[in-house]
Amino acid sequence: MKYKAVIFDLDGVICHTDQYHFLAWKKLADRMGIYFDKEINNRLRGVSRMESLEIILEQHKGEPFTEEQKASLAEEKNGVYKELLAKMSTSDLSEEVIKILEHIRLKGLKLAIGSSSKNARLILNQIGLPDYFDAISDGNNIMNSKPHPEVFLKAAEYLNIAPEYCLVVEDAKAGIDAAFAAGMDSAALGDAYGYHKANYYLTSFSDLQLIIV
Ligand code: BG6
Ligand code: MG
Repeated sequence: MKYKAVIFDLDGVICHTDQYHFLAWKKLADRMGIYFDKEINNRLRGVSRMESLEIILEQHKGEPFTEEQKASLAEEKNGVYKELLAKMSTSDLSEEVIKILEHIRLKGLKLAIGSSSKNARLILNQIGLPDYFDAISDGNNIMNSKPHPEVFLKAAEYLNIAPEYCLVVEDAKAGIDAAFAAGMDSAALGDAYGYHKANYYLTSFSDLQLIIV
């Protein structure tokens, strides 16, 4: 086996919080009269909260916002997002995902989370996986979000496994870029499916079984 660890993105890979990010940003954009759609939303995948806000504000026509105003807008979005997260439960973790995680663990590989989100631990608690992963690298321990490799390099460091033995699973092109920059192989699903920098394409989460055999 080429790999000793699998590092999973969280939003849009382990669970479908990406749809809640969309709903929360949409609510903010609608309130402000700013155009926002799923295509713009795809550019937010893997990107930090403040960088996501900057992408949304590209459609804003009026006076530029101060840093203080931007912080407050990001806080407003996060409030709505957390209300949606509060409704999540173990039913938001699919049987398919848990089955494959168990399969990888039984093969003797370590499992980690590599997410740009500052809400990662809250989400893992909600879906019933608070202590499941061997390491969690998230928005709270990085200075630079994806496509920068920091979040994945930190995960590898926490696991004490060299990057070349890590496989990253991602739904964001920015995440595939981050894995590439970290010197890690990557498997792309969802929005990142077909992206040329990925080593594997997954039509479903279960396809990981074809890589980790
Ligand atoms: C990433 C999402 O996982 O986390 C991004 O793909 C999001 O869309 C980023 O902006 C930051 O999330 P949070 O929860 O810290 O606002
Ligand atoms: Mg994602």
